[in-house]
This record gives sequence, structure tokens and C-alpha cells, in this order.
Amino acid sequence: MRVEPEKDGRIALIQSDIWIGFPRAEQVLDRLQGLIEMPRQTRMPGLLVHGASGIGKTMIARNLSRRYAPEYDPKSGITRTPLLLLQAPPAPDERRFYMHILAAVGAPSSALSLRAQSVASLEVRVVGLLRDLGLRMIMIDEVHNLLAGTHREQRRFLNVLRYLSNELEASLVCFGVSEAVDAIRGDVQLARRLDEHHLPNWRDDAEFSDMIQTLIAAMPLAKKSNLKVNR
Ligand SMILES: Nc1ncnc2c1ncn2[C@@H]1O[C@H](COP(=O)(O)OP(=O)(O)O)[C@@H](O)[C@H]1O
Ligand SMILES: [Mg+2]
Repeated sequence: MRVEPEKDGRIALIQSDIWIGFPRAEQVLDRLQGLIEMPRQTRMPGLLVHGASGIGKTMIARNLSRRYAPEYDPKSGITRTPLLLLQAPPAPDERRFYMHILAAVGAPSSALSLRAQSVASLEVRVVGLLRDLGLRMIMIDEVHNLLAGTHREQRRFLNVLRYLSNELEASLVCFGVSEAVDAIRGDVQLARRLDEHHLPNWRDDAEFSDMIQTLIAAMPLAKKSNLKVNR
């Protein structure tokens, strides 16, 4: 068998998560971009993007976070971080969430001393740090992890999200499966600020056919694909 020199590279590329900009994903990105560029206000609007597992939520979140990567400003000596992408902790635990944020922004600290701090002082630290970063948007992926907690824990966690968004005048964006929608609505004030964007399951229609064609076109296949979509 003849091994083409670039074969491994092509296979790696096909297996990697290359972004395909199909319209329904671009629509969400456009909405998110509108939110992140919005002038600061006391009650920043946000978005709850929901849909089945595997529909492309995390890919959208990662794409936006690449577009708004931290930038070092040599004039002020400050690194601006417009967007923070976090995964909701496996259960709605405030302390864990704050520690997770501190780790995500690379705050120097020893885990031991953090653990000794009260939730209130962690909160002060997180808000101060995030404010210095010039944050404009907080994105929480896997927000359905919230459902692992009791009703009371869920409410407390949602409270934290609302508080952070208010304090920082940053837009809050949550991604999760549709089962999480009711839990988020549990916080009425938060629900009022979060618009919903549903990503429906794919159906065998023109949009799906286009997506498959785009996908195939983006793959560096050795031979032409004869995958046909009914249309
Ligand atoms: N825009 C996209 N471009 C390319 N591949 C995608 C895209 N959206 C989803 N996928 C594929 O579908 C898989 C599942 O997407 P993911 O974002 O993890 O779904 P979710 O977070 O909704 O469960 C990805 O690993 C990727 O292979
Ligand atoms: Mg995901």
C-alpha cells in the first residue's frame, strides 16, 4: 500500500474539531457578539443557549472565546480579558465555582490558603480580579450541572451568577441542555435578563443537507466523498 506523505496530517485534521460555520451556529455567534460589544449597563442582558447534547453548544462557546482571547496592552501593562468561559461545577457549589474562576484567570494562590478563606472573601477577591481584567462576558457551559444540586443549592448558585453579572456589568451567557431551562427560570430576576436561544435537533431538510456538504467540503479527503443527502 502506498502511503501518501501528507496522509497522517489529513487524518489528524479530519479528526480534530475544525470549526464549520453553518448558518445556525453563526446566528448564535452573531447574537453573542452583539452582547459582548454592547455598552455597559447596570443590568446587562444575556443569553441562554440550549439544545440537545452534541448539537454544537460547546463548539460555539469555544469559537467565541477564541475570537475574544486575552490581549496584553503594552501601554498600560494590563492584560485585558473580555471573555471568560467556564464550565459549571459538577454540582452547584459556590466555593468551588469561585476557586475555579481564580484558577481560570491564573490568580496566584495556594489551594490550601484559598480553602481556608470564607466564601465571602473569595467572592470579594473574584469580583476585584475580574473587574481588573475588564471582563465583558461570562460564559458558563454545561449549566445543567446545576440540576445535580438541591433546589436551595440551585438558587444560591444562580444568585452568584446574577451577582457577578451585576457587579461586573458583564453579560451572562449559559449553555446547557433544555432540561436546564426550568432550573434557570427558578431565579426570576435572572430569567428576565436571559433571552433564550434554542438549537433544535437536526432534521432531514435543506439546512441539514447544506451542513453535511459544508462538512465534507471542509475535510481534506483523499478521494471524493460519495455521501449523498436526500435532496
Ligand atoms: N460548528 C461546528 N463545526 C464543526 N463541528 C461541529 C460544530 N458543532 C458541532 N460539531 C461537532 O459536534 C460535536 C459535538 O459538539 P459540542 O459542541 O461538543 O456539542 P454540545 O456542547 O452541544 O454537546 C463536536 O465535537 C464536533 O465534532
Ligand atoms: Mg457541550
